[in-house]
Amino acid sequence: MIKPDAVGNNHIGPILAKINEAGFRIVAMKYTRLTPETAGRFYEVHKERPFYGELVDYMSSGPIVAAILEKDNAVADFRTLIGATDPAKAAPGTIRALFAKSIAANAVHGSDSDENAAIEGGFFFSQLERF
Ligand code: RTP
Ligand code: MG
Repeated sequence: MIKPDAVGNNHIGPILAKINEAGFRIVAMKYTRLTPETAGRFYEVHKERPFYGELVDYMSSGPIVAAILEKDNAVADFRTLIGATDPAKAAPGTIRALFAKSIAANAVHGSDSDENAAIEGGFFFSQLERF
């Protein structure tokens, strides 16, 4: 997902370019906006974390781009491409080092397992058409 800060700062194009250059195939993509209710469900795993309320407010604060990406070793390789959660700690050249503003407004979301990738993909795409 490209988060509201990156969409608002016109970083959709440069982020998609980095994703393409890194060898990911975009197999589904959607420009949309989460409501506080849907953002709350998407990040339900973080419900008990102190930043949950702030995260839900932030993720519903503007439009996002949701995408399903394919690649061998996609989960781990995408997390390498995006960098650490806190952009101040993200490796140079990573998407968060280049485009994120803060630990909360950190430009992109990546799934943390194949299982969660399938669940999160289903959140935005009810069926995956192959072109
Ligand atoms: P994501 O799920 O969005 O790809 O990020 P992540 O795995 O790197 O980080 P995670 O621990 O899953 O946290 C989810 C998102 O919550 C926000 N966050 N805010 N204020 C804070 O201390 C804090 N910590 C995390 C970030 O937007 C983070 O990406
Ligand atoms: Mg996470």
